[in-house]
This record gives sequence, structure tokens and C-alpha cells, in this order.
Amino acid sequence: MSNTFQISITRPDDWHVHLRENKMLETVYKDSSRVFGRCIAMPNLKVPITNSRVAIEYKKQILLLSQPQKFEVYVPCYLTDEMDLEDFLIGIKNKYFFGAKLYPTNTTTNSAYGVTKIEKIFPALEILENHNAPLLIHGERTGDAIDIFDREKYFIDTELKKIINKFQNLKIVLEHVSSAYGAEFIADGKDNLAATVTLHHLMLTKEDVFNGGINPHHFCMPVVKNKEDLKILRKYACSGNSKFFLGTDSAPHPITDKENVDDIKPGIYSSPVAIELYASIFEEERSLENLEKFASFNGSNFYNLPYNDGKITLRKEEWINPEFTSNKDVKIKNFMGGQKIKWKVVSN
Ligand code: NCD
Ligand code: ZN
Repeated sequence: MSNTFQISITRPDDWHVHLRENKMLETVYKDSSRVFGRCIAMPNLKVPITNSRVAIEYKKQILLLSQPQKFEVYVPCYLTDEMDLEDFLIGIKNKYFFGAKLYPTNTTTNSAYGVTKIEKIFPALEILENHNAPLLIHGERTGDAIDIFDREKYFIDTELKKIINKFQNLKIVLEHVSSAYGAEFIADGKDNLAATVTLHHLMLTKEDVFNGGINPHHFCMPVVKNKEDLKILRKYACSGNSKFFLGTDSAPHPITDKENVDDIKPGIYSSPVAIELYASIFEEERSLENLEKFASFNGSNFYNLPYNDGKITLRKEEWINPEFTSNKDVKIKNFMGGQKIKWKVVSN
């Protein structure tokens, strides 16, 4: 199937991306649908997707975009303390929602409406469990006494264990797992527990964010961590382990928001180079034969979805990634913008 210079894999999916809304949506949609067959579009919009009406509206907005190829978008419901459970049940049953997303309050972009106390959403989790719908989690807990690098561990030990104990059959995805502790926890868990892994958590360490003054373009939540964390994350992602799959967490912000030193928005925009950089990582780890499992199979299997039709082909060929993605009045800094990329998509 592959030789030294070229590799073909079943069309991959992005199981965690921020497509955003309005002008931004058009641009981001184009980059995301370039190679991916399906995606889970995160619901933390300016008006978050907390009910089925907003979910249906959002999907309509997406359907208006020109579709160069089939690109299926799934949207989870944004869980809140005071949610309308009747509407939630209808949304889950009718598949307006692809499961639900838990943002503990004030942990990341547009999480102000998130959950203040995990017990508040137990009735919603019961609905998810009964309908075999997944719970996607931003697994961080904040607090004055909690170091920014320990937020994931703290969330796992206090909240996630509680959820797992109470809802033993609930399908759970720890999104953008960022620490060795988190990755080991997932690997050791039951089959209904999995994780998405981003590019940046496989490529960057905290030095890339904080050394020599903060680099806003490497600043994201959960923040990237130590070399040891990166090593363990690479080990699990590249091993083909079925509990780990591709989710870029590509999260664009206008460059003006990223470079506003008083309020740097967390989020890294990687969609334009995502599959290419994952290929580089798997190559570095001498695991290219596992890229297809991570990118095209593990997520589908976890979500009980069929594999995509068709294949994409990547060739070992250098090209320069443009520094920005611009379109009308949208300007976004690309992850690894201006840098040499070693793999190129030659057929999609
Ligand atoms: C995301 C965003 O900008 O919406 N930011 C980020 O740093 N990853 C939200 C998220 O997934 O945490
Ligand atoms: Zn995200």
C-alpha cells in the first residue's frame, strides 16, 4: 500500500474542530473539507449550541456553503447548568445533536455558559447513556489553587472519575488529551473511554509557548506541556491504539484577537496542514503504517460509523505553508505558517 515516498489512506475524519460561524465559517469549512470526510464541529459559538433550534440553524448555515466534496458535519449539544432536558432528549433522539460537549465553566473560549458543578448535568448524562450517544469533554478544572499545567489531572481525579463511576456504559471522549497522566488514564480505561489527540500536543512543549515571552500563536487550551508528556502522547497516538484518534482542535481566531496582549484568545489554526503534519509525526515515530488507524478507523469504530469511501494520497514532498489564511476580512495565522512542510496531499 505504501512505499517510501507515497502513502494512501482511507479518507480521514477530524473528530474535533472549531468551524465557527458567519464569515469565519466559510473560510474554515473550506480548509477542513479539503481532505476530511466528516468532522465534529464544536458548539462553543458566540451563541452556543445549547438547544436543538440553534443546532438546526447552524447546520442550515453550513449547508448553504458550496461543497466541493461530501463533508459531513456533526454538532454536539453544549451542556449547561439549566438545560431544557425535554429539548435535549428530542435533539438526541432525532440526531440534531451528535452527543454532547461538556465545558467546565471558564476553562476556554466561550465556556462562560459551561457547567459549574458536574452533578447539574447528571440527568443529561443519563439521557446520553440510555441512547448510546457520546459525551465529549473539555477535561480541565480551574481554580485559584490549581496550576494551569495541572488542570487536566485535576479534572480527571475529581470529575471524570465521578462520571465514569456513575455512568458505567456512557461513551466518553477526553478531547485534546494533553498530558502523560491523561493519556495513561485513557489507555488503562474501559473500551467506552477514548481520546482525541491534536497536532500541537504532539509537536509543542511549554517552552514553545512561554520561553522568551508568550507566543500567542502557540497558546491554546489545554496548554501544551512537558517533553515527557509529548513523548507519551506520541507513543499512544502512533501505536495504533484504538482508544486514540484524530481531532485537530483547529481553533481559529482573527489575528487581531490572537495578538491582543491584554486578552490572548487560546486556539491554534491547523486545518490547512493537519493531515500533512500528522504524517510527519507518524514518520518520525516510524509508525506511518498506523496513520490510517489513527486518522480514518479508530474514531469511526468508536462512534459506530462506517469508514469513509475513497482514499487520499500523501507524497513526501516539501512545500512552504503560507503564513496566513485570508479571505475578505478574515485573517488567521496558520499553525507552522511560513514553515517547510514535508508531506503534501497529492490526491484527495
Ligand atoms: C478553543 C476555541 O478557541 O474555541 N480553544 C483552544 O484553545 N483549544 C476551545 C477549546 O477547544 O478549548
Ligand atoms: Zn476545541
